[in-house]
Amino acid sequence: MTIIAPSILSADFSRLGEEIAAAEAAGGDWIHVDVMDGHFVPNLTFGPPVIAAVRSATTLPFDVHLMIERPELSLHDYIAAGADRITVHAETCTHLHRTVHSIKEKGLPAGVALNPGTPVSLLEPVIHDLDLVLIMTVNPGFGGQSFIPYSLVKLRQVKSMLTERGLEGVHVQVDGGINAETAPLVREAGANVLVAGNAVFAQQDRAAAIAALR
Ligand code: DX5
Ligand code: ZN
Repeated sequence: MTIIAPSILSADFSRLGEEIAAAEAAGGDWIHVDVMDGHFVPNLTFGPPVIAAVRSATTLPFDVHLMIERPELSLHDYIAAGADRITVHAETCTHLHRTVHSIKEKGLPAGVALNPGTPVSLLEPVIHDLDLVLIMTVNPGFGGQSFIPYSLVKLRQVKSMLTERGLEGVHVQVDGGINAETAPLVREAGANVLVAGNAVFAQQDRAAAIAALR
């Protein structure tokens, strides 16, 4: 079963609560929350107070994607704000193993994201500890970018790493440039969680948009 995670980065921020409720009504499974710090990525979005303010708009899980430096310093704040799962970037963690365990010790499923320029081999030492691997299919920072085709190679590599180790239960997520054309490609390459920003929130009929991704 494919999980669809609408990314609120592409929502109307002036009506964020309503947009989240609309994504749930349209059939979304997780709400993807893109936190950007203006340092690790060239864009700045929102932090714990905004997440806490919209948490009651839905009962869907908040899938928090931290594109921030030193994420280990603020994990607690995101959990207190209502994060249900947290994904950190391998590139931002000097002590990746420690940060992954810190998320798990706080009782949340832990994910690790890799930028398009980062090899999947970096996952090897922590892959047994993960609930989710996020293969970025664009360079993070903005919605509405084009899918990077080499991501399909990386997805297949991750899929075989997981299969070889008997870790078929680990989610494989993709994020960036996912639409009705790229969705079948990433699914065929092993992804089971599709993040979609523009392909959902820029569409008039969000239920049809989510159905098209499925
Ligand atoms: C990229 C973000 C994505 C973004 C995807 O930096 O992490 O979640 O919202 O947007 P689309 O689906 O429009 O490429
Ligand atoms: Zn994201």
